[in-house]
Amino acid sequence: MIRISHTLGLLLSASLAACGGGGGGGAPAPAPAPAPAPAPAPAPAPALSALATLGQQVFNDRLLSGSGRMSCATCHDPAFSHGAPNALAVQIGGQFESEFGQRAAPSIRYLERLPPFDLASLSGGLTADGRADSFAAQAHLVLFNPLEFDNANADALARRLRVSATSQPFSVLFGSNGDGTTVTAQLEQALQAFQLEDRSLHPYDSKFDLVQSNRAVFTAPEQRGQQVFRDPSRGNCSACHFDFSADGKPPLFTDFGYAAIGVPRNPAIPANSDPNYFDLGLCGPLRKDLADRKDLCGLFRTPGLRNIALKPVFFHNGRFNTLAQVLDFYNTRDTEPERWYPVQGGQVQKFDDLPAAYRANLSTFPPFVGRKPGDRPPMSAQDLIDLECFLRTLSDGHVVGTPPPPACR
Ligand code: HEC
Ligand code: HEC
Repeated sequence: MIRISHTLGLLLSASLAACGGGGGGGAPAPAPAPAPAPAPAPAPAPALSALATLGQQVFNDRLLSGSGRMSCATCHDPAFSHGAPNALAVQIGGQFESEFGQRAAPSIRYLERLPPFDLASLSGGLTADGRADSFAAQAHLVLFNPLEFDNANADALARRLRVSATSQPFSVLFGSNGDGTTVTAQLEQALQAFQLEDRSLHPYDSKFDLVQSNRAVFTAPEQRGQQVFRDPSRGNCSACHFDFSADGKPPLFTDFGYAAIGVPRNPAIPANSDPNYFDLGLCGPLRKDLADRKDLCGLFRTPGLRNIALKPVFFHNGRFNTLAQVLDFYNTRDTEPERWYPVQGGQVQKFDDLPAAYRANLSTFPPFVGRKPGDRPPMSAQDLIDLECFLRTLSDGHVVGTPPPPACR
């Protein structure tokens, strides 16, 4: 069997990766590096290895799922920056395509530099609670999840492979005599190679990237929005969504860390119809090994923000459908909580998706610094527009000269 060393290295030091739920004054982001000289256009995408080419086929193969109708691309659609192609809070899977998932399907771009989960620095790991340390391990979760691919076991998956179009290229690479466990591991390695190698999953060709290499310029609103993003007294977004990187590579707009920010409960998730069900991120119930770490309840991985303006659903529970709503929430969660949380008997049920016992875990980084109802929010209406303009520059495939929307010109 071919062994592929997985290259998700520990790229950021532990100290940089710490952006926990508690305390902290929210250190201002370092000043940006001086603009470099214009860089030559990037080299054409290298051809995929044989293993990654196979992985691409596996990624698109519907016959590997229990229903025979679902592939990885169903929920991670290349035409939707490898994220959900619809605005459902959670996608539907399983053998009969009748099972609702528990979390919103994320974009799977720009994960190739995500380090494995590290408890000491509270960082890294795939999924919103970091429970998979490699693309192969993550694929394993999907292939056997009753809510997703719903394969009963490795042998069932190997049987499905035999009657799929992937069977032929698979046997060219691996032969056709492997047992279920071996075949499963080989499929997972192929998916991993594809996700690591395929340039379309991490093209780094947004307007932001072109500006970094002096091949495009920000408009005035985009430039102002970048300042809001960095300003500790307004957005302070870059305190967790790092817009710089320690290794000189293009930023991923995440510190790979974990924080609880009190996203409102989403009644559109069927699991939430049980008032006792709470998705608590690191402490479970999807993740099992940190169930006794009550100090980690409510913490979710800080996602990267590339292609954020293209998403149909936001946050781990898909609670919001537009980027403007998300920014509005950040700005007024504390000053106008009644707009975000249910009101019962005149009382705002703030943080209705995090039981009271865990609310000490909520981040106190700016912009969450204990403003009260009626206080002035940290960002002005113009700041919010500018911030959204900046975030729109993070979408892949920018063509130099394409004008931004009128409000951003
Ligand atoms: C039914 C929809 C669905 C299908 C099909 C699906 N996924 Fe996902 N995927 C999700 C959801 C939902 C999550 C978020 C899981 C979580 O946070 O616990 C996710 C998370 C991921 C992540 C981690 C993203 C991150 O930011 O950490 C990767 C990588 C991934 N999926 C790859 C795959 C691959 C490879 C396949 C095919 C084998 C696949 N997915 C099939 C819904 C799906
Ligand atoms: C304390 C760290 C922290 C700060 C500061 C912060 N974020 Fe976040 N951000 C997070 C975490 C954690 C999540 C995921 C929360 C969840 O899903 O429950 C998130 C999620 C998001 C999302 C949704 C991403 C997705 O894929 O659904 C957007 C958009 C976002 N943040 C933008 C911003 C902006 C803009 C700012 C500044 C106004 C900001 N964030 C400030 C930690 C932070």
